[in-house]
Amino acid sequence: IPVDPFDLVIFGATGDLARRKILPGLFRRFCSGQMPEEARITGAARSDMDDAGFREMVAEAIREFGGGRSCEDGTLDDFLTRIGYVTVDAKGDGGWGELKERLRSGFVRAFYFSVAPSLFGDIAERLRSFGLADDDSRVVVEKPFGKDLASARALNATLAQHFDETQIYRIDHYLGKETVQNLMAVRFGNMLFEPLWNSQYVDHIQITVAETVDVGGRGGYYDTSGAMRDMVQNHLMQLLCLIAMEPPARFEPDAVRDEKLKVIRALDPVDYHHIVRGQYAADESQPGYRAHVENPRSTTESFVAMKVHISNWRWANTPFYLRTGKKLKARTSEIAVVFKDAPHSIFGPEAGRHANVLVIRLQPNEGMTLGVTIKEPGPGGMRLLDVPLDMSFAEALGPDAEEVPDAYERLIMDVIRGNQTLFMRGDEVEAAWRWTDPIIEGWTARGEVPKPYEPGSSGPEDALMLMHRDGRKWREIK
Ligand code: BG6
Repeated sequence: IPVDPFDLVIFGATGDLARRKILPGLFRRFCSGQMPEEARITGAARSDMDDAGFREMVAEAIREFGGGRSCEDGTLDDFLTRIGYVTVDAKGDGGWGELKERLRSGFVRAFYFSVAPSLFGDIAERLRSFGLADDDSRVVVEKPFGKDLASARALNATLAQHFDETQIYRIDHYLGKETVQNLMAVRFGNMLFEPLWNSQYVDHIQITVAETVDVGGRGGYYDTSGAMRDMVQNHLMQLLCLIAMEPPARFEPDAVRDEKLKVIRALDPVDYHHIVRGQYAADESQPGYRAHVENPRSTTESFVAMKVHISNWRWANTPFYLRTGKKLKARTSEIAVVFKDAPHSIFGPEAGRHANVLVIRLQPNEGMTLGVTIKEPGPGGMRLLDVPLDMSFAEALGPDAEEVPDAYERLIMDVIRGNQTLFMRGDEVEAAWRWTDPIIEGWTARGEVPKPYEPGSSGPEDALMLMHRDGRKWREIK
C-alpha cells in the first residue's frame, strides 16, 4: 500500500549511513511500489554538489549496497528523477532558502538528521527560522542519542524547543527488524506462551547479540563509546523491554512505549560483580582492538556480558543475562527463554531431565525453536531426550512471501505514515541512560581494564563464569 506523497530531506546525505542504508532502502521501497509517484527526496549536506552529481552518488550507493528482489532494470533511472540535492551550511545561512523552494506544500514533510548530534540544534533551529518546518513536519534522529543522561537530556531539550514530541522520531534500527517486531507477535498473538511468561515458570532469559566484525574504520567513534553505549543502552535494552514488558492495551505508540519505560524503570542497579567487560586481543594473523582504534592503551570494551534483574511482580528472581561483542565466533542474535525444570520427575533420576527452551533467532536464519522433551526411542527403559521443534520463518512463509524490508526501510515508511510505535520516546532514552550511567561511571572510578579475549572466540572466560557461578550455561554462539 503506497504511503502518502512526501518530501523527505536527508541532512548528511553524502555520509555513510545515507549511502549504506537510507538511500538503498528508499530505492527498495520505490521498487516495491510503496513510494508514491509524487514522492521527492532531497539530499542536503556541506559538500558542493549539484543534482546530477548527487544522483550519480546515489546510483553508485544503490549498485554497491543493493536493490531488492522486486527491482527491475530501468527502475533506478526512474527513482533518480525523484532525487535532488542542495548544498546547505548547517551552522550558517547558506542553502536554506533554496532548500525551502524545493519543498512543496500539501505533502508530508520529513527531515532526517543523519548527522552528528552536535548539529541537531543548529539544523532544528534553522528549519524553523527559515520556515521549512511547521507543526506537522517530522524529524528523524539517529543514534547515538547522547553519551550519557546529561547529554541525552540536553538533546531532548534542544529538539523540544523546536518540535513537539509527536514530531520526533528517534531511531533504534533494532525496532525496525522484522524479527524484533515478531517478538511482540509471538508473545501477544498466541495463548501458548504468555501464561508461562513469568518468574514462576521461567528460570532465566539470555539475550545475545554477537558480531564477527571488528571496529576497524569506525575506531574514532567506537573508542569513545564502547559496547555498553553502542549496543547495550539501546539495542539490547529494547530487546529486553519487548521480552519483559506487560501486554500493552493496544499496539499503539504510547501504549507500547509506556510499557517499555516501566521495564527500564524497574531495572535494578547492576552489581559490578555481575558485569564482564572484554576487549578483543590480537592474534598471529590480525591486529587487536587497540590497533584498530589507534590507542595502544585504550580501555574501551568491545564486549559486555551482564546479569540483570527486573524488580517487578512478573520477573522478581528471574535473571536476564545479556551479552554482546565484536569479533566473536559467529554473527548471531537470539533470545533464549529457559523454562524451569518440571517440578517432579515421575521417571526417576536415571531418565534425565531437560528444561524447555524457547529460542527466538533474530538474525541470521530468522525463526524459532522450542526444545521439547520426548522419550528416547528404543526398547530400553524410559530415558528422556531433548528435541527441537524448529521453525525457520523463510521456510514457513514460503518462497512467494513478500520480501522482508530492511529495518531502515520499514522505519522510514513509518515516519511518513506518522506512526511512532517503533521509535523511542524521549523519556525512554533518558531512563535507559539513567540506568547505564552508573555502570560506566563505576568502571571509570575503579580504573577497570577490560579482559582480553581471543578474536573468533565467545568472549572472555569470565563471561562464561558469570553463568557457571549460578549453575547455568550460555548457549553456544554458532
Ligand atoms: C549499530 C552499532 O547501531 O548496530 C554497530 O553502532 C553494530 O556497532 C550495529 O555493528 C549492528 O546492527 P545489525 O543490524 O548489523 O545487527
